[in-house]
Amino acid sequence: MTPSGVKATLSFSDGSPSMDLPIYKGSIGPDVIDIRKLYGQTGKFTYDPGFLSTASCQSTITYIDGDKGELLYRGYPIEQLATQCDFLDTCYLLLYGELPNAQQQQDFHKLVSEHTMVHEQMQFFLRGFRRDAHPMAVMTGLVGALSAFYHDSTDINDPRHREIAAIRLIAKMPTLVAMAYKYGEGQPYVYPRNKLSYAGNFMRMMFATPCEDYEPNEVLVRAMDRIFILHADHEQNASTSTVRLCGSSGTNPFAAIAAGVACLWGPAHGGANEAALNMLEDIQRNGGVEKIGEFIKQVKDKNSSVKLMGFGHRVYKNYDPRAKLMRETCHEVLGALGLENDPLFKLAMSLEKIALEDEYFVARKLYPNVDFYSGIVQRAIGIPVSLFTAIFALARTVGWIAQLNEMIGDPEYKIGRPRQLFVGSQRRDVPPLDKR
Ligand code: CMC
Repeated sequence: MTPSGVKATLSFSDGSPSMDLPIYKGSIGPDVIDIRKLYGQTGKFTYDPGFLSTASCQSTITYIDGDKGELLYRGYPIEQLATQCDFLDTCYLLLYGELPNAQQQQDFHKLVSEHTMVHEQMQFFLRGFRRDAHPMAVMTGLVGALSAFYHDSTDINDPRHREIAAIRLIAKMPTLVAMAYKYGEGQPYVYPRNKLSYAGNFMRMMFATPCEDYEPNEVLVRAMDRIFILHADHEQNASTSTVRLCGSSGTNPFAAIAAGVACLWGPAHGGANEAALNMLEDIQRNGGVEKIGEFIKQVKDKNSSVKLMGFGHRVYKNYDPRAKLMRETCHEVLGALGLENDPLFKLAMSLEKIALEDEYFVARKLYPNVDFYSGIVQRAIGIPVSLFTAIFALARTVGWIAQLNEMIGDPEYKIGRPRQLFVGSQRRDVPPLDKR
């Protein structure tokens, strides 16, 4: 870490000695105050629930400038990656730090495509689930279960094991998501076809049946690939921090990624795309565009728990750059499918317009996030709403792995162990039963 040349001095109003804290500079973004010696020297912890002011690690992978609305993977702007690279190039970049040259690209595509099949026994494991299980419940189970099928890549401290686990996870996630979908539909699983692109292969496993093959539509395949790129990593968000914390105990990579899948499921995180679409459908059912005003009123009412799903972000206090790209894709996909007049899309556009002009949203810097549009795109492609978050998990897997591997390779890495401000009962004795 690079010292900033400036130090912070912490002083106390009760006369306790003050303490100098080193400050380190990042290559871009805010500096950090190093508080690691704080407890040792003062007996005090810092208090930051929700990590509003805490950098939990140093990282070279993803940078977000929330005020500017900028997202960089390894320094490259998301806009350039989304328009000039495909998802597997992005995976290579996130994992190894540089974009692949032509030979590396070819080798990496081959490597991933040769590991797309899952152990045949996985389908019997899948059969244990109810057919109506939520795909994220199924995915949490399936990803965790990979550690039972691939023993030769479970040692997180062995770089070769980590490398093999990374390729397996990236290659097999589309197969698992498609299997979870087919199982729910009661259709036979479709095996991967490795000569197709990563996104094309996934869509074929989703939509082909033994009676009818799927003819990939270039616009839709490109849209799916873009969804994957835009969701590939997002620095230390809740699920990534979960993966890091889980992996910090030395557990195997499959278990750590399964923890990430579980965290992503929540509606404040990856579950927002499903929640956003359900919200739009709800408004549509209850009167459509006419009812937007009433809905916005509810959202602004502090006594209601209604939120405008797909709006707001902890870090972006400007338009989410991913949302801009997804909005563009949304127009392209609806145009290609002749759905420009789709009522749900029109409703989303009106809702966005009204919210962007409303003082409540303006004052709080609440802009649409990527999930506001990704749901509409996925629905147009034919993906059922309940599968949206599983697709997010598929895409985010590479980010989780890159972050996990970065942590394990960091000489400063330690098991994550936050402390607390204890406000419960002081020591007391157990009273006899008749005195309680
Ligand atoms: N609708 C209405 N009000 C909102 C919303 C929203 N979507 N988001 C934030 N606010 C209000 C919130 O009530 C608070 O108001 P006040 O200051 O009057 O109390 C203010 O804005 C600040 O919000 P916050 O809850 O302190 O912000 P946060 O950083 O803790 O939460 C968030 C961020 C993403 C959880 C939240 O904006 C949210 O729940 N959004 C809807 C869910 C969503 O779309 N999530 C996807 C995030 S992007 C994909 C991903 O990375 O997973």
